[in-house]
Amino acid sequence: MSSQVADKSVVTTLVVLISALVLLAAVLFMVAALMGVVGNIAPDDGSRKQAAVLERIKPVARVSFTVPKPAASTELKLSGQEIYNKVCAGCHAAGVMGAPKVGAKDQWEPRFAQGMDTLVNHSVAGIRAMPPKGGNPSLTEANIKDAVVYMLGETGIKTDAAPPPAATAPPAATAPPSK
Ligand code: HEC
Repeated sequence: MSSQVADKSVVTTLVVLISALVLLAAVLFMVAALMGVVGNIAPDDGSRKQAAVLERIKPVARVSFTVPKPAASTELKLSGQEIYNKVCAGCHAAGVMGAPKVGAKDQWEPRFAQGMDTLVNHSVAGIRAMPPKGGNPSLTEANIKDAVVYMLGETGIKTDAAPPPAATAPPAATAPPSK
């Protein structure tokens, strides 16, 4: 009877031990499997996803990269009139802060006497109350020159750069009535 009890307790202990070992093995296996998943499968899966995403994005990215470029280049192709309206008119339409007023030939003639290059250089670098490039650094020197030629043309002063603005002269001639 007592030996039976002892046997039973040995068996119970063994069963508990074995199941503990089995559990431990199972846990270790799962941990190893998880590490395998984390170490190998997940990054691989991620890179596959990334590649798929990149593939899906590619055409869109190409479109969005090619579109702004022509937009930027057309921005630089603004006419002298457009640049004047956008940037210069703020001061030069009304003669703000002593700016020579467009249309006031008496204000422009002594300035024009300095020569076209000097006018453009002053407009690019800024002169007294006038900020460099009229405060818009994205403008090129050619933009500035176009705007100066336009302002002088509107004032009735013909510049050496007559041939290029000659193309814009007809619209310039129709511009004053719209003011
Ligand atoms: C913030 C006001 C302001 C803006 C904007 C502005 N100007 Fe002026 N500009 C002036 C003032 C003020 C003067 C007179 C400066 C002086 O001689 O004291 C002037 C003078 C000039 C002159 C004569 C320079 C000289 O040597 O006598 C030219 C040319 C000129 N501006 C062109 C432009 C052009 C082109 C733009 C646009 C791209 C422009 N300005 C935008 C204020 C402005």
